[in-house]
Amino acid sequence: MVGLRDSFNMMCPCFRTKATGNEFVDPVVNRHKVYVKDVSPAQSVASTEPGSLRSSLRGPHSYSSQDYQAKPPGAEMFTMAELARATGNFNAQNKIGQGGFGMVYKGRLRDGRMVAIKRGKKDAYEQRLSVEFRTEVEMLSQVDHLNLGKLIGYVEEGNERILVVEYVPNGNLGEHLDGTYGKVLDMNTRLDIAIDVAHALTYLHLYADRPIIHRDIKSSNILLTDTYRAKVADFGFSRVGPSTDVGATHVSTQVKGTAGYLDPEYLNTYQLNTKSDVYSFGILLVEIFTGRRPIELKRPSDERVTVRWAFRKFVEGKVSDILDPKLEKTPAALSIIERLAELAFACSAPTKADRPSMKKAAEVLWEIRKDYLVEHQKEVKVKAERSESIRMESARSEMSADAQAALHQTSNRRRPW
Ligand SMILES: Nc1ncnc2c1ncn2[C@@H]1O[C@H](COP(=O)(O)OP(=O)(O)O)[C@@H](O)[C@H]1O
Ligand SMILES: [Mg+2]
Repeated sequence: MVGLRDSFNMMCPCFRTKATGNEFVDPVVNRHKVYVKDVSPAQSVASTEPGSLRSSLRGPHSYSSQDYQAKPPGAEMFTMAELARATGNFNAQNKIGQGGFGMVYKGRLRDGRMVAIKRGKKDAYEQRLSVEFRTEVEMLSQVDHLNLGKLIGYVEEGNERILVVEYVPNGNLGEHLDGTYGKVLDMNTRLDIAIDVAHALTYLHLYADRPIIHRDIKSSNILLTDTYRAKVADFGFSRVGPSTDVGATHVSTQVKGTAGYLDPEYLNTYQLNTKSDVYSFGILLVEIFTGRRPIELKRPSDERVTVRWAFRKFVEGKVSDILDPKLEKTPAALSIIERLAELAFACSAPTKADRPSMKKAAEVLWEIRKDYLVEHQKEVKVKAERSESIRMESARSEMSADAQAALHQTSNRRRPW
């Protein structure tokens, strides 16, 4: 703990502005997705990694660039007519979301299945969107986990690129933390969501002999079900990581991700591995327990970068100040906030080597949640006992009031005058 607090000064390098290729990208100020084009690796790579995603995929579900047109196993092919019918001709009333790729609509297929239909912007010159589309189809068609969105099918016709995915009915985590739906997510739900995301990432990072790196973990890419279980979505930026079989530590690749969540080491070196997702997960954790977005430009200057502000509070021993004000500061919540913050800061450490694996982070979260539930149950019991004794007390005083009234009536009746 002391070590972590002492490392406060080390936090600063993560927010340096970095010149990348032709453009300057400031990960703190730029709120949008960061695309850095035409950059060559700044340092030599530890392993010889094939550059393209497709050529680096392996296993029974892998494709070469020539056979991409072949349908990925499990994915259904749809026609534009079917999807137009399912969405009321892409009616604005059925719009459920929007991102860098395009619009997302809710739709009902002929067989009754509810789906989300993600329609790419029709910009023939946007090569980037085509790459995102193919990446998402390929990655989603390979993975299968309760906490990952499922691919149902797609359309690639002319300049239309449309993904059909499992519909997740309860909005995204960012909207819930912002209070869009009115209901405040309680601490237990927030811990469950964090654990779900950690499990999804653990699955991806331990996938086959080469990990899958999501590269865009953030609250708007975490979808919630009716029972507030989380599903990680949006695989447009994902890519296959280094082959651990041959001891490779990273792949060198252009920088992609979202400002505020982007691993500073990856931004500086173009070296990507699973720990870049761990960094984004750390930032997401901070968001989950503070209720603040990673970057909030309307705040005073020393509070704009949430992780920095939270870390400073932590160092000053004022960790309870960082708890989302919408959450009740119960003894149970206060009993875990320090450990939760410590985990988040370890995940978002400036250097990859200092970050835990996603598996380790999931285990720590599991322990934190277990201890939270023990404390929470105690609180629930005490509250129940207190309200029961209040109920008994008021029943007793009602009874004695009734008894007194009855006595009064009886004594009145006895009086003849
Ligand atoms: N399967 C889905 N079910 C329900 N809503 C979804 C689904 N997929 C996406 N959305 C909504 O649309 C938004 C943008 O989707 P996303 O896949 O992140 O697209 P982009 O790649 O453009 O960022 C999400 O934040 C979410 O609110
Ligand atoms: Mg998205």
